[in-house]
Amino acid sequence: MTRDDVLRLLWENGDGYVSGAELARRLGISRTAVWKAVDRLRQDGWQVESGTNRGYRLLSGGDDLTEAGVRRYLRREGLELRVFPEIGSTNTALKELASRGAPEGLVLLAERQTEGRGRLGRSFFSPPGSGLYLSLLLRPNAPASAVTGLTAAAAVAVAETLEELGARDASIKWVNDVYVNGRKVCGILNEAALDLESGTLSYVVVGIGVNVRAPEGDFPPELQGIAGAAFGTESVPELHCRLAAGILDRLLDFYGKLTEKPFYESYVNRSLVLGQPLNILAPGRDPVPCTGMAIQPDFALLVRLEDGSLRRLDSGEVSVRVRSAPEPETGAVDTAGRA
Ligand code: BTN
Repeated sequence: MTRDDVLRLLWENGDGYVSGAELARRLGISRTAVWKAVDRLRQDGWQVESGTNRGYRLLSGGDDLTEAGVRRYLRREGLELRVFPEIGSTNTALKELASRGAPEGLVLLAERQTEGRGRLGRSFFSPPGSGLYLSLLLRPNAPASAVTGLTAAAAVAVAETLEELGARDASIKWVNDVYVNGRKVCGILNEAALDLESGTLSYVVVGIGVNVRAPEGDFPPELQGIAGAAFGTESVPELHCRLAAGILDRLLDFYGKLTEKPFYESYVNRSLVLGQPLNILAPGRDPVPCTGMAIQPDFALLVRLEDGSLRRLDSGEVSVRVRSAPEPETGAVDTAGRA
């Protein structure tokens, strides 16, 4: 698409100008077509400076989350996207809409949440300008057992999209926290309502929060060393829109194949817990030390307790225990704590 080709060339050119003639030559199009593409970019929120005899250069823009921007990268049709600069919680708002009959495929996306919610009743830090917060409404019309794996599917969808856009080695800590560079960059909260008469799910809301860039003023003290950003300062045009589109496309592909689970291998290969010393965490209980042994076909985690017995975890939370470093020999260089 000409608009995207012009954007790519302007982007690659950084702060400098590129002449309309040069853009036209490199893309094999007319100067009028270049001018039209620049006009489209401006309509999409990009600031493109034009100087007589100098050509064009990008000033800013494009990191905004807009419906048109997400649609530009979305393969799938038929989703209803509603984008908010600010919202309490995309999950809370979508659950409300779901209970009033909203259809499958409604997606709420926000650039900031004032009451972002996490698992186990925690809050989810959702500051402006650095993250992507989205919730997708599904109506599986099936018992809860039919959507086993949806949580894992969401984590793989996020991890694969992050890598496609340039993040390095996105891993998954059971059940569905996505990590980059040893820091949690994405949390996922799935919420469902059950129709007690039929025993089927009325709806499922898949809520995904990604720390795309480091927030202004950094993460709050309680998240220091735990939360991180998926991307540094590298520039990726329209990153938030591409991320949203990539995550939705993948997740919906996986959702259509929940029985085959084509994401199982990717999930296992990205696992941060297999072979690792772990603690099983439960509110109000002492951590239970164990070792991560296997991810079952239904994404339950099999762990070995210290008495040698195996335990299957269907849900809950584990933390990875930091192995105590061996005593350094005299004269040896202590590299503990360095990558
Ligand atoms: C967790 O790590 O505890 C899960 C965090 C889930 C956060 C997302 S952001 C979009 C959606 N709206 C919410 O209020 N929560 C989820």
